[in-house]
Amino acid sequence: MVGPAQLLIEAFEARYKSTPDIARAPGRVNLIGEHTDYNLGYVLPIAIDLACHVGCAPNRDGLLRVYSENLQQGREWPVEQIAALKPAADWTDYVIGVARQLTLGRGRDLLIHSTLPLGSGLSSSASLEVAVALGLGWSGELPSLELAQLARRAENEFIGLPSGIMDQYAAVFGRRDAALKIDCRSLECEFVELPARAAIVAVNSMVKHELAQSAYRQRVAECAQAAREIQVESLRDATLEELPLIQDPTALRRARHIITENQRVIDFVAASRRQDLAAMGRLLLASHRSLQTDYEVSCEELDFLVDTAISVPGVFGGRMTGGGFGGCTVNFVEPAAVDRFQETIQKAYRDRFAIDPVFYRVNPSEGASRIS
Ligand code: GLA
Repeated sequence: MVGPAQLLIEAFEARYKSTPDIARAPGRVNLIGEHTDYNLGYVLPIAIDLACHVGCAPNRDGLLRVYSENLQQGREWPVEQIAALKPAADWTDYVIGVARQLTLGRGRDLLIHSTLPLGSGLSSSASLEVAVALGLGWSGELPSLELAQLARRAENEFIGLPSGIMDQYAAVFGRRDAALKIDCRSLECEFVELPARAAIVAVNSMVKHELAQSAYRQRVAECAQAAREIQVESLRDATLEELPLIQDPTALRRARHIITENQRVIDFVAASRRQDLAAMGRLLLASHRSLQTDYEVSCEELDFLVDTAISVPGVFGGRMTGGGFGGCTVNFVEPAAVDRFQETIQKAYRDRFAIDPVFYRVNPSEGASRIS
């Protein structure tokens, strides 16, 4: 039995006096292909070895009870009221959003523990959604597209965030030693091996700007507008030659990011197959610049982390990862240079922002599973 699952079982037995089944779903780091998923383009995430574990057992009280070990907070609801609940604007919305997608029938006790930093752009919420769906009895075979889609619907419909499929897909389909090149239109994925000569290091800026959710909605709308002006179903089908058809200069820049970013995913995968880390590094940086200037979802802290990273010898490249406005960067670094990389960033970031960044050396890991 693995460590976190065993600890969760013990905590569950102490709290609820019964023995749970355990479900696990990982977080993700997106290597390249940012904000392309809801434009039906390409993304290239890896599932990581930080994960959410959920313990679950039926109860006789007709209640859905949930407790977060991370936040030391719990809530409960009568099962028959779940369909009528409104969002509470906190972490329990992910649980209720998923519960509403399933037929519970009877009461359940849930205990949640995540090794992911919460709200830091490593997809703690999608891993929670997927693990809760498994905990609450979603019973299909793994991995499953249906499960990823159910978890995404929980977020789209209950929380009302028009997010794409990437995070839930990575949590479900993650694979040890490979990145997932997901075609967000066909929903097919290709496993991409990464060069062993680079460590993947995520750096947590430890900031999250308020803007994130409203800006996300706005970007989704701007992309839809750009697609309408070019008369394509989605920006996946648009080309650089068609950009002048877009009247609004902001929508034009958003579209330019999506078109060039889709191409960068394709180029990054090709460079990875050639083990061309220099080219991969250049693409990471080009992606960051495009997110910074055309898509405008970066922030001062993320730009500083990237600019500092690329000044360190042994760093191939880096970029912001995830939705933006805070959260993490992802960096490809020569293994022998990782210590120097961390020391340099730590010092520079603290001097500049008086904040200690947090580092995660991540490895491509397997997707969601039932443990017991
Ligand atoms: C968030 C969303 C994803 C994706 C990224 C940006 O993580 O949940 O669907 O759009 O932002 O690439």
